[in-house]
Amino acid sequence: MNDLKIDLGFDKIKIEKKKDFLTLKDYSKEEILYLLSLAADIKKEKELFSDRLKGKNIAMLFDKHSTRTRLSFEVAISQLGGNCIYLDAASLQIKRGETIKDSAIVFGRYLDGLVIRTFSHETIEVFADYSNITVINGLTDMYHPCQALSDLFTIGEFGLLEKELKFTYLGDCNNVSNSLMVGFSKLGLDLTLGCSKKYGPSAEILQYCQKQAAKSGSKINIINDPFDAVECADIIYTDVWISMGDKDSAEKVKELSAFQVNSKLLAYAKPGVKVMHCLPAHREQEITSEVLDGNHSVIWQQAENRLHAQKALLVYLFSENF
Ligand code: CP
Ligand code: NVA
Repeated sequence: MNDLKIDLGFDKIKIEKKKDFLTLKDYSKEEILYLLSLAADIKKEKELFSDRLKGKNIAMLFDKHSTRTRLSFEVAISQLGGNCIYLDAASLQIKRGETIKDSAIVFGRYLDGLVIRTFSHETIEVFADYSNITVINGLTDMYHPCQALSDLFTIGEFGLLEKELKFTYLGDCNNVSNSLMVGFSKLGLDLTLGCSKKYGPSAEILQYCQKQAAKSGSKINIINDPFDAVECADIIYTDVWISMGDKDSAEKVKELSAFQVNSKLLAYAKPGVKVMHCLPAHREQEITSEVLDGNHSVIWQQAENRLHAQKALLVYLFSENF
């Protein structure tokens, strides 16, 4: 593993800080690279910025299950000296009919920040608009930007954030692939989606990313044959086929079965191919245990990096002098 070294090539002072982190669409290439470089510093030195969130109260409102996002944010906030309040969405008055808008206004009167995991992306936009505090998207049906930011950091640690990278996302096109696609197209990196015709990306997100890619000089390829999609890949990435909130569907599982990440498929990629998965995994469905636990897997490093990347994000969003 390399230390991630990023030549920023610009003056960080010139970056105009954003209030929220709702989607990578709102972030420029320079801002994303800046966050990655900050994450590298923070990973090297755990004590760095240990009082940056002193006096800050950040709540986490989760409407869906989570292991990594919840834990990594709670640890990150604590290591940065802040106070984290976990809120189970089911116990709030929102569940008894209080509007999102009213709740957001009230949240804004107590808190400095809010991490939200929910279904509709619009919900976090309403929170961001009406609370006036910093809102971070911890996953919606549409996007998972914290995951993508952290994954870009992991890819950078392997020295692969470069034009020659062949990165193939395989399986269901979902919130994770949407955010990866946004991040890749902003950074000018090519991305291949290996997916069936039926479970490809939405036209809206594809169109947006293709426009970004045209500007940054990268390409998004959609390939329906899994073996062609992974040919000579440096990285193969997959995620569950049935996301939280999706209907369980035997038809979908059958349709995507050809896209399972297994050793037969890996043989078509580069010999040193790295395998990524945001987790949780459905072992023997989208990925075999042989691959997940095997030599090509960088999945545990990938999971750890959520902590470092999110610490960078928190420092950036909540420090006055960043
Ligand atoms: N990858 C990820 O977001 O994991 P959790 O659902 O456990 O938070
Ligand atoms: N696509 C998955 C990601 C889980 C982290 C889901 O939304 O369930």
